[in-house]
Amino acid sequence: MESRSSRSRTEAGESEKVKKGITMSKHYKIAVIPGDGTGPEVVAEGIKALKALSKRCGLQFEFEEFPLGGEQYLKKGTLLPEDVLEELKGTDAIYLGAIGHPEVKPGILERDILLKMRFALDLYINLRPVVLYPGVDTPLKNKGPEDIDFLVVRENTEGMYAGGGGFFKKGTADEVAIQESVNTRKGVERCVRFAFETCRKRNKKKRLTLCGKTNVLIYESDLWSRVFEEVRKSYPDVETNYQHVDALCMWMIKNPEQFDVIVTTNLFGDIITDLGAIIQGGLGIAAGGNINPEGTSMFEPMGGSAPKYTGLNVINPMAAIAAAQMMVDYLGEKEAAEIFQFAIKAVLKNHIKSLEAGKMGYGTKEVGDLVVKYIESRE
Ligand code: IPM
Ligand code: MN
Repeated sequence: MESRSSRSRTEAGESEKVKKGITMSKHYKIAVIPGDGTGPEVVAEGIKALKALSKRCGLQFEFEEFPLGGEQYLKKGTLLPEDVLEELKGTDAIYLGAIGHPEVKPGILERDILLKMRFALDLYINLRPVVLYPGVDTPLKNKGPEDIDFLVVRENTEGMYAGGGGFFKKGTADEVAIQESVNTRKGVERCVRFAFETCRKRNKKKRLTLCGKTNVLIYESDLWSRVFEEVRKSYPDVETNYQHVDALCMWMIKNPEQFDVIVTTNLFGDIITDLGAIIQGGLGIAAGGNINPEGTSMFEPMGGSAPKYTGLNVINPMAAIAAAQMMVDYLGEKEAAEIFQFAIKAVLKNHIKSLEAGKMGYGTKEVGDLVVKYIESRE
């Protein structure tokens, strides 16, 4: 995975300082969108961990908060204004809590904040690791951390999410509803290439699975298969196979150890990563990155805003903390990312009883404190 940081912008200044013998720590501008419900609580714990890490590793994070979400929409009627989008583009990464408010009709915030951000910032990859950490329960019988460790590369800007379609004779007995899947050659190819690159760099089983539905989706899956066949030629070191999405769901349960990297369309990726989340312990731990390899990327826990737990200090912040870890890794801070990963693993293995809200054996803030403790004490 290519990393991006503010280094290029500060390089000249830094080399001057290096010459003078002054070491300067790296500086990252992070846009923070705490969002709705429990979003602010979990993001606060992620930031706490990032601050501990910055002390420990000599990094500098500058956080800038954006109050996007249901609250702001209800008060001001704004969702994701153009000037905010421009500001977001100027940051090194975006850290998002959760979007979703019980008093806002479902669909509005999702489409006009989350999906709009994905489209407008061209976050064309949704990277979702499915990793079972030691000490975490999986509902899969006889499967452990050695069996569940793969990565889903979900296309994130096209397919069924493009929003094409329409009604005909709406509200009548003759009504027709059409929902179109848009797959561009460019969009498919950049996603497939990213998956091959990631699989190669990950350097584990070096196996890439294309997930589609060639037996029914004779246009969409056909394009994906042709592109996959073509791009594959440049990666002879990566073993490839194909699975229909329905069969792949079965295999994720029966035989998850076969997977290394899976690449798929936006909607299939959405569905299989919820299945992935549950086999890795649930939404309390599942995190993802919305990536634009050439621009600003966004990192988020996969779960929603869980409004009923708001303000109770019971929500599990580990998914948001794991999203922060992915962000550090993506920014290219490998040593810091490794320390962060160590701390997450230690807390899961040594402390947390259950990943469910209210059943962790600790409060939200205490879980964050534990992560900080391990970041500080790592040898
Ligand atoms: C996800 C979510 C979103 C999606 C929703 C909230 C629009 O389910 O990030 O997986 O479908 O992409
Ligand atoms: Mn989803």
